[in-house]
Amino acid sequence: MQYDRRKFISFLGKAGIGMIFMPHLLASCRSDQKSNPIVKKLSKELLERLKYVVLKNLNPSIEDDLVLTENLEYSILLKWGDSISDTDTFGFNNDFICFIPLNKDNLKDGLLWVNHEYADPLFVSGFNFSQYEAPLNYRTKDQIDKEMYSVGGTIVRVKEVNGKWTIVKNDLHNRRITGKTKIKFNWDTPIAGMHYAIGTHSNCSGGITPWNTFLTCEENYQDQYGETVYDEHNNATRIPSEYGWERFYDYPPEHYGWVVEVDPKDGTAQKHVALGRFSHECCTLIELEDGRVVAYSGDDKSDEHLYKFVSSEPQSLKNGTLYVADTLNGKWLALDWDIQPVLKKRFKDQTEVLIRAREAAKLLMATELNRPEDIEIDPVTGSVFISLTNNSGKGDYHGSILKIEELNGRHDSLTFVASTYMAGGEENGFSCPDNLAFDHSGNLWFTSDISGSAMNKEEKPYMAFKNNSLFVIPRFGEDAGKVMRVASAPRDAEFTGPWFSPDGETLFLSVQHPGDQTTDVAHPTSKWPFDEDGIPKPSVVAIKGDLILKMNLLNQIET
Ligand code: FEO
Ligand code: CA
Ligand code: CA
Ligand code: CA
Repeated sequence: MQYDRRKFISFLGKAGIGMIFMPHLLASCRSDQKSNPIVKKLSKELLERLKYVVLKNLNPSIEDDLVLTENLEYSILLKWGDSISDTDTFGFNNDFICFIPLNKDNLKDGLLWVNHEYADPLFVSGFNFSQYEAPLNYRTKDQIDKEMYSVGGTIVRVKEVNGKWTIVKNDLHNRRITGKTKIKFNWDTPIAGMHYAIGTHSNCSGGITPWNTFLTCEENYQDQYGETVYDEHNNATRIPSEYGWERFYDYPPEHYGWVVEVDPKDGTAQKHVALGRFSHECCTLIELEDGRVVAYSGDDKSDEHLYKFVSSEPQSLKNGTLYVADTLNGKWLALDWDIQPVLKKRFKDQTEVLIRAREAAKLLMATELNRPEDIEIDPVTGSVFISLTNNSGKGDYHGSILKIEELNGRHDSLTFVASTYMAGGEENGFSCPDNLAFDHSGNLWFTSDISGSAMNKEEKPYMAFKNNSLFVIPRFGEDAGKVMRVASAPRDAEFTGPWFSPDGETLFLSVQHPGDQTTDVAHPTSKWPFDEDGIPKPSVVAIKGDLILKMNLLNQIET
């Protein structure tokens, strides 16, 4: 057994409750789980109370609010525009969230990383695309600068005091990474002539490394600086972007579409070329017994692919091999210029293979998938779960969750078995799965991403599902294996970035793009979170309550 699956199962059975919180903890926490404060809270009284906590399925809702099922409550931790220090504010459209405790003895004090995926110009820079026939001709540098500041990510210290999470304003760790931050490439050959890029953007989902740094993934990078495409003779053409940032900042498209690693201590960042360039939704790492790592990542575009990088050295995201999945035959195909004649014929070297990973994947006949998004590894079985959101071009409107079982449970295996774990559709009560998260008991939580333009529209196939939602598939008890809706998002929004606190008492969750169908800020389609200015604001919420606690303890208590 290559990774710690057997160990995990054995300590699920034998160990004290603290041991089950391993997946999201600092490595340094792992040797001293008894200090986990939740152990002390497992009084008879609490266990008795949790026995009567019931997971109730929430009905679909069109309400412009964050609606929760029974035994849950939320508080807003961070909103777009909130000051994190005297110099910086929280960015727009928060997505991936990750929490690392600063000290193993206090799981209620740590650093939160939050992605900021994209700027909606209507709210961020006051530019209304819908008013122009050729809007890019009317963009100003000042607007672009505002948009560049609103994307990237935030590091902010957060603490739970008297049961409520708050930010520690002006903490020395607090900082922004933006569309203007200088970031080096972790690669020896220059990328489009440079060893560094200016900025990161399109930061959708992400991951955490075993050495406790954050990974933030550049997804729809073509929207800011366009893309370079090649014809059959390898002649390049630049496709313009949607937002027109290249009008004032002519940075190469090749500088975006990477996995970016951020050091929580000082905010230094690097782009990992070895993991390939495409619309990275996420990057999910698992450490092998010898310290090498495997990084899974999906390319969220219709008919694109699933990849994994296997390092050849411990803790390296540079030295190793990138593979792409042939899910029909259960094979990982090496995107390796040295050993693949078909790649040698098309590309001049390995760097070009990595920059044009999508083309390389198609030349190797990798399997086209229906928008692979978030990926999580089942902490109990080691199976890899991948959301396939949808692919209307192929008649798949509701998507599914794909399961990959690597040969002998080894994540560096080159063969696997792929199967559909759960299909979207009215019979299962969900559509368009996106972010995934396993809680500390191994229950699978996921969010939906029905696009704002298709949601709640009569002519579209999404009417029955109503607003985007958060779901859980329990692993134990009478609802085991059933899809249960537990939260409904405000109008036009999607939930993103679910992340459980290491003590299992809080679910951090992003509410992204409420009111994104707005065409006139004076009449927004959502007003959540109901500030006085009436402007909808993407926000991070902390969800607590007996149901979160119970689900995180479900493998430890009678139901
Ligand atoms: Fe940014 Fe694929 O969701
Ligand atoms: Ca997503
Ligand atoms: Ca996830
Ligand atoms: Ca999505």
